[in-house]
Amino acid sequence: MPGTVVVGTQWGDEGKAKVIDLLSGQADMVVRYQGGHNAGHTVVVDGAKFAFRLIPSGVLYPHVVPVIGNGVVLDCETLFGELDLLASKGIDTSRLVVSSNAHLIMPWHPLLDRLTEEARGDAAIGTTKNGIGPAYADKAAREGLRVQDLFAPERFRARLSNVLNEKNAILTKLHGHDPLSESEIADRYLGLIADRMRAYVGDSVSVIHEALERGSEVLFEGAQATFLDIDHGTYPFVTSSNPVAGAACAGAGVGPRCLTRIVGIAKAYVTRVGAGPFPTELTDEIGELIVERGQEFGTVTGRRRRPGWFDAVMQRQATRLNSLTEIALTKLDILDPLATVRVCVAYDIDGRHHEHLPSDVSMLERAVPVYEDLPGWQADTTSARSIDELPPNAQRYVRFLSRQSGAPIRILGIGPARDEVMNVPAEWLDAELPGGSTR
Ligand code: GDP
Ligand code: IMO
Ligand code: MG
Repeated sequence: MPGTVVVGTQWGDEGKAKVIDLLSGQADMVVRYQGGHNAGHTVVVDGAKFAFRLIPSGVLYPHVVPVIGNGVVLDCETLFGELDLLASKGIDTSRLVVSSNAHLIMPWHPLLDRLTEEARGDAAIGTTKNGIGPAYADKAAREGLRVQDLFAPERFRARLSNVLNEKNAILTKLHGHDPLSESEIADRYLGLIADRMRAYVGDSVSVIHEALERGSEVLFEGAQATFLDIDHGTYPFVTSSNPVAGAACAGAGVGPRCLTRIVGIAKAYVTRVGAGPFPTELTDEIGELIVERGQEFGTVTGRRRRPGWFDAVMQRQATRLNSLTEIALTKLDILDPLATVRVCVAYDIDGRHHEHLPSDVSMLERAVPVYEDLPGWQADTTSARSIDELPPNAQRYVRFLSRQSGAPIRILGIGPARDEVMNVPAEWLDAELPGGSTR
């Protein structure tokens, strides 16, 4: 029963969806296991761009069953918008299965997300304001409403009444906001929303296990990324779920033995959206060039992403935290014009050398990157379809990153389109670096 997890190893937007799309050709099912519509997952096929927020990126293949697992927080109207958009492009989404145990994003969640962020002032996290944090907070407080409650009107009304009393007190007394109407919310959720959701809701755990028992290939599509993880990321500048690979177990309802292949997605450089520490951040013209060439603007919020050099210290930590079996390196092409490419191989913190990530966030804030400079290739990589067709210095960069990362790079992206990708042979990785190994 082969299960493959695709997980972001940086701060998101590494190109997870493109790799999911690539692997979906051979898979039968793609499962989202955490997060919500804070994700923006882009797939480009024949020049057409698809941006997914909730629906698993494998949906473009008619043989793939897309599943929204129990660990996701679901905004039903965003889901309907995505379904309509895909239908208008001729994509059949009727196979979608939504877990009856997934928690609902309710109208007070985005409202409180925005009001709380405003109240934080300079300490704002820079959330997507989609209500993700407040929805997971209600889930942990056992006050959440779940997809299955839509079909149990009495239970829905009773739970809504309890939770809304509390939320309205917070909205009015703390934030000076108008209260939300209980009857309007109940009518909308138990009416139009329940009617449309009914076709998709199912027992996702059974659906996934039946596929695994048939020997089907199941992909688990991570959203966000390792350093946005609420436990392992740069807290509090994180999301409110666990994107790490292990969370696929709880968020989809499978045991660790089901996960046999763990693909970590890393960009050839790093970006992050929102606030928080970022040791290799570039605030100069090279950063500008990366943002422009890489079109580093958020799929969901349109915000400019902060750019930086590849950070092998963080990558090694991501390899550990996720038990990566391999890495897919994306967006190598964006670095094509650079004369020199830098890789952070260690941190200097208060005069001490660190090859692994410190767990104390204040140490990370003080970390000074130790860089290894590699010669750039200053040539186009987008037309290459095998590793030997890459300029020698690009080959050298990929080998170097692979050796620094603690897991082998096995897939390489050199453009956004479906075919702008290549496999990296294991024997090539083991060969000597052109010009000799530096580490
Ligand atoms: P995700 O959230 O991890 O799925 O990533 P996003 O879709 O938010 O951002 C990645 C962006 O990079 C998308 O616009 C992709 O189309 C694009 N992309 C993915 N791989 C490559 C690549 O190898 N080269 C280039 N130039 N673009 C890529
Ligand atoms: P994908 O799946 C990049 C960031 C937000 C903010 C922090 C918390 O496309 O990689 P939240 O709304 O989750 O409470 O915001 O997390 N963030 C992302 N950054 N890619 C994402 O998703 C993100 N989802 C959330 O910018 O800093
Ligand atoms: Mg994204």
